[in-house]
Amino acid sequence: MPYYSGDLIEEVISQNDIVEVVSEYVTLKKSGRNYMGLCPFHREKSPSFCVSIDKQIFKCFGCSEGGNVITFIMKIENIDFWEAVEMLAERAGIDTTRYEVNNYYNKIESTKKDMKDVMYKLNRDVGLFYHNNLIELLKEDRNDVKDYIISRKLDIKTINKFGIGYSTGKESLYDYLIRLGYSDEEIMASDIILKSKTGRKYDRFFDRIMFPIFDIRDRTIAFGGRAFGEKVKNKTVPKYYNSQESDIYHKGKTLYLMNFAKRNKLENIIIVEGYMDAIALQKFGFNNAVASLGTALTENQARLIKKYTDNVIIGYDQDGAGQAATLRGLDILANHGLNVKVLKLDREDVKDPDEYLNKYGPERLQNCINKAISLVEFKISILEKDLNLENFDSKVKFLTGVSNILSKIDNNIERDMYIDKVSKKYGMSPGPILKEVEKGLKLKKDDEVQIDMNALNKKMQLVTTVRKRQDQYIVALLLSKNKRVQEEILRSISSEDIDDENVRKIFDFILSLKDKYDINKIDILSKIQDEDMIKEITDIMYIDISGYEEKLLQDVLKNKKKEKLFTRRDDIIKRLSEDISNDESQILEVELNQIIIELSKLK
Ligand code: GTP
Ligand code: MN
Repeated sequence: MPYYSGDLIEEVISQNDIVEVVSEYVTLKKSGRNYMGLCPFHREKSPSFCVSIDKQIFKCFGCSEGGNVITFIMKIENIDFWEAVEMLAERAGIDTTRYEVNNYYNKIESTKKDMKDVMYKLNRDVGLFYHNNLIELLKEDRNDVKDYIISRKLDIKTINKFGIGYSTGKESLYDYLIRLGYSDEEIMASDIILKSKTGRKYDRFFDRIMFPIFDIRDRTIAFGGRAFGEKVKNKTVPKYYNSQESDIYHKGKTLYLMNFAKRNKLENIIIVEGYMDAIALQKFGFNNAVASLGTALTENQARLIKKYTDNVIIGYDQDGAGQAATLRGLDILANHGLNVKVLKLDREDVKDPDEYLNKYGPERLQNCINKAISLVEFKISILEKDLNLENFDSKVKFLTGVSNILSKIDNNIERDMYIDKVSKKYGMSPGPILKEVEKGLKLKKDDEVQIDMNALNKKMQLVTTVRKRQDQYIVALLLSKNKRVQEEILRSISSEDIDDENVRKIFDFILSLKDKYDINKIDILSKIQDEDMIKEITDIMYIDISGYEEKLLQDVLKNKKKEKLFTRRDDIIKRLSEDISNDESQILEVELNQIIIELSKLK
C-alpha cells in the first residue's frame, strides 16, 4: 500500500456521509438530528446505536463503541486504518493517487509499514522453504518425517494446498534468508530465528511439521510447528510451538483456514480446535472448517464469522478440558447474533474430528453434524454431567441451573419448547421449572429497563462518575467555539489536573496540536487512531454544552481548585499526625487554617 498524506483522511470523511455508510450495514430510523438503530457491535433488542449527522460520528450507548466513518468501517469490516481509508475512498470515487506522498515527514511512519510488508514476504519465504523441505523428504524411500506424514494421512494434495512443511533442510534457514537478501535485523525481528547463548542462530521450530497460518487475504502471518516421534512420547518438548503475536499476527483476530473457507458460499462454519482437525475436515470436503487454535473465541473472531454466515457449529475436543473457557467463547458468538450449535461425536474412542474422520469417515461425521445440539442443550448437558441427579439436593441445583439458562432465551416459543423438552427428558413436572424461569425473566426485565433509560438519556451515567464528568467537561470546553473559554482552560488547567487517563491523553493531544485554538470537532477525530481515545472523544462530543460554556467553565475551575485544596488538606492532616518538629507543625497549622477558610468560601 502506498503512503498517503493526511489530506486524504479529511477528503474521505467529507465525501462519505456517515449516515449513508452506516445505512449500508444497519437499518437506521431518524430521530431528531440523529439516526438510531440496533448496534452491530453487540446484541440488543432496543436501539442504543446513534449516528449523528451534524457531528458525523456514531456512538453506541449500550456498549460504548464509537468513532467516525473510518472507525466504523475498520470495526465492521475488521480491517486496519489505512485499509478503511482506501475502501471509503473507492466508495466515494476519490482518486487516491493524488494523495500519495513520500516526503521526509512520512519516513518514520513508512518504515514501520515497510517492515510489515517485509514480514509478510519473509513469512511467505519461510513457509515455502519448509514446504520444499517436506516435498524433498517425501520423495525419499523412507524417513521418520515421511512415516509421520503417512501416519497422519496427509496426502500430497493436502500438503500442497495448505502449504504444510518441515522445518529443516540441507541449508540452515538463517543462511537461506540471508541469501534471499533479508538483513540480519529483519530476520531476527521475525521471531522465527532465535539466538542461543553461544551466539548460534537457530530455527525455533527445528524438526517440526510446519503449518503456515494465513490471514483472510492469504498472507502468511505465523506458524504452528508440531513435534513428533519419541520427543513427544517422552514429553521432552511441547507438542506444538506457535508463533507469538506480532505486528502482523493477532491471535484473537485470526481463524486458521478462514481464507480457504471464505471462498465458498457458506451455510455455516465449523470451528474446531486444532490445525489437524481443520485440515482433515477440509480434506474430506468440509470446506467450511476453520480452527481457533486452542484459544478462547474473541469478539473479533465473532465479527469475522458474521461477515460470511450466521450459523456456527463448534467441534471442540471431547475431553471436556477448558469447558468453561469454551462456554464463554460460545456466549460471545451468540451475543453477536450467531446461531451456535455444538457437535457431539457419537463415539467415545476418538478425541477430535480428525481422529473421527480417519476412523469412521465423512458420512458418519456429517450425520453427527446434522444432529448437532443447540447451545442451550449443550449448557444443560454440562450441568447434568456435573451433578448426580439421583440425589435430591443435586436435582434442586440442576433445576435452578436449567431455569437460569432457559430464562436467558429471548424467543417465547423457543423457551416454552425447551421447558417442555427438559421436563419430559428429566421426568420433572414443568410447573416448578416455569416458575423459576419466570423469576429469572423478571430479573432480566428490571435490568433492561435501566439500560433503556440510559439510552434515552444519552448519557452513560452507569459508567461515568461525577469526577470523570468534570474531566470530560474540560475537553468539551476546549473544543467549544468560545475562544475566551478555550484560552482560560489552557491557562488554568494542566495535564496533571486530569485524573482520567483517557481524557488526559486527549487533553495532551489537543495541546500538542499547532492549531489548538481553532480545532474543529470533526477534524480532531480524523487525527486520532487510538481506540480508547476514540471512544472517549465520541463520548465527549455527545455532551452538549452550547450556551453553558461560561457557567461550566466557572464550575470546572472551582471544582478543580477544591480538589487540590482537599488533597493538600488531607496531606497536611496526615503529616501532622506524624512525629514532626514544632516549627513544621506550626507552619502546617497556619496553612491548614487558610485552606479551611478558602474551602468554606468555595462552597
Ligand atoms: P494433533 O495432536 O496433531 O492432532 O493436534 P490437533 O490439531 O488435534 O491439536 P490439539 O487439539 O491437540 O490442540 C489444539 C490447538 O492447541 C493446537 O492447534 C495448538 O494451537 C494448541 N496446542 C496444542 N498443544 C500445544 C502445546 O503443547 N503448546 C502450545 N503452545 N499450544 C498447543
Ligand atoms: Mn488431533
